[in-house]
Amino acid sequence: MISRRLQAILDINKQSYDQVWDTCCDHGYLGEAYLQRNQAQIVHFVDRVPALMTQIEHRLNALDLSNIDGIASNSVNSNEHISWQVHCLDVKELEFASEQKHLVVVAGVGGDLCADIVEAIMKKNHAENIDWVFCPVHKHETLRKKLIRLGLNVVNESLVKDKGRIYEVIHVNQSDNTPASVIGQQIWHDNPELASEYLTQKIAHFERKANSSESDVITILAQLKAVADLLRYNS
Ligand SMILES: C[S@@+](CC[C@H](N)C(=O)[O-])C[C@H]1O[C@@H](n2cnc3c(N)ncnc32)[C@H](O)[C@@H]1O
Repeated sequence: MISRRLQAILDINKQSYDQVWDTCCDHGYLGEAYLQRNQAQIVHFVDRVPALMTQIEHRLNALDLSNIDGIASNSVNSNEHISWQVHCLDVKELEFASEQKHLVVVAGVGGDLCADIVEAIMKKNHAENIDWVFCPVHKHETLRKKLIRLGLNVVNESLVKDKGRIYEVIHVNQSDNTPASVIGQQIWHDNPELASEYLTQKIAHFERKANSSESDVITILAQLKAVADLLRYNS
């Protein structure tokens, strides 16, 4: 069974795409779930570790996808209904078919790498055709600042707790109209109990860094404390 974190990533966006890219895919469970639920004509698995890609290729070849309908018949693999492709390369090198609608998922890596990936891909491709789902393991603010700089807007964002750890899941694109923010907005309101637990962790984290030379720590701390006051006021 898929983890709560991976399920939350899948649940944040159920739209159909021409192509879905499970980047930094490692085990490839996310891409496999997109395949199983028929969310795209082609699902791509991308990682830079060759041994991982070989394992995924073997697993996908053994997968019976024949009971999933409605997908284009231009399969690049043995299965008649579903297309998938495996790519062993640096995600930042990806180039997309410009006339198609893409979903790029980046999960399980730091916010700094997510930020580098989104910037590199947006430079090389038609950004208006790309939706993004991020689930960084840390440095969320680094990613969110990059999203603001790149003019990406938030479609949806959520929190999920998995094996004792809380994660942010962020769905963005160029066409929605809620600008990204450094600490997030919707994540603090959907599940007040989880939001309050996460807020306590974040405030403690930034308080520990308050004397560091890192820019923005004091501003972020003040913003988090303002959200904490609001949550207390509303409860
Ligand atoms: C911890 S796994 C994340 C797996 C999965 N996305 C998840 O959320 O469970 C991180 C993976 O990112 C891959 N990776 C890191 N930087 C990469 C890059 N620039 N290009 C391609 N793969 C990369 C690593 O090889 C590793 O397999």
